[in-house]
Amino acid sequence: MMDRDILKVLFSEEEIRARVEELGSELYERFCEKTPLFLGVLKGSFVFMADLVRACQIKSDLEFIAVSSYENATVSSGRVQITRDLQQDITGRDLIVVEDILDSGNTLAFLKDYFMTKGAASVTIVTLLDKPSRRTKAIQPDLTGFVVPDEFVVGYGLDYAQKYRNVPYIGVLKPEVYSN
Ligand code: XMP
Ligand code: MG
Repeated sequence: MMDRDILKVLFSEEEIRARVEELGSELYERFCEKTPLFLGVLKGSFVFMADLVRACQIKSDLEFIAVSSYENATVSSGRVQITRDLQQDITGRDLIVVEDILDSGNTLAFLKDYFMTKGAASVTIVTLLDKPSRRTKAIQPDLTGFVVPDEFVVGYGLDYAQKYRNVPYIGVLKPEVYSN
């Protein structure tokens, strides 16, 4: 079981479900007169995206983009690369960008610029988790599920080395998991 690798639970399945319902209602209020495009940032957002679009009963379209942010020893600025681009024209669209976690802000700062360059009418950022203590880019989410402390979290879409995305709650791994 994956549970035995988890040191502590930060947000239970029930807490997440309740918060996602609230976010869905808030999006409904903001967008029910429009036909927004939900745009998930892969891979981390896939579980949140699935629950959020069902919590928010608006006529909408769905799209994904995949990015990888990498930092090596010589480049510490955090470059972002698109590994799977948009498959549709977003000119004039109201975007609801769905992200798992806003950390340094590199990914979303880059993507927001990219989407505006592509002609989006508006960009609303919804992040399940916000880790503001690590922010290096001046970017704020429009809607946040939960604020988290500066700990590496997994579950509900978030991974460590591609594992634990299917843990149904959000938690912190035991230190020994990293050293293995
Ligand atoms: P930035 O720094 O660009 O980071 O805001 C956003 C991306 O980094 C990943 N990330 C995490 N993934 N647990 C994870 O599983 C974490 O605690 C964590 N912090 C950052 C994530 O992919 C996010 O989209
Ligand atoms: Mg991510």
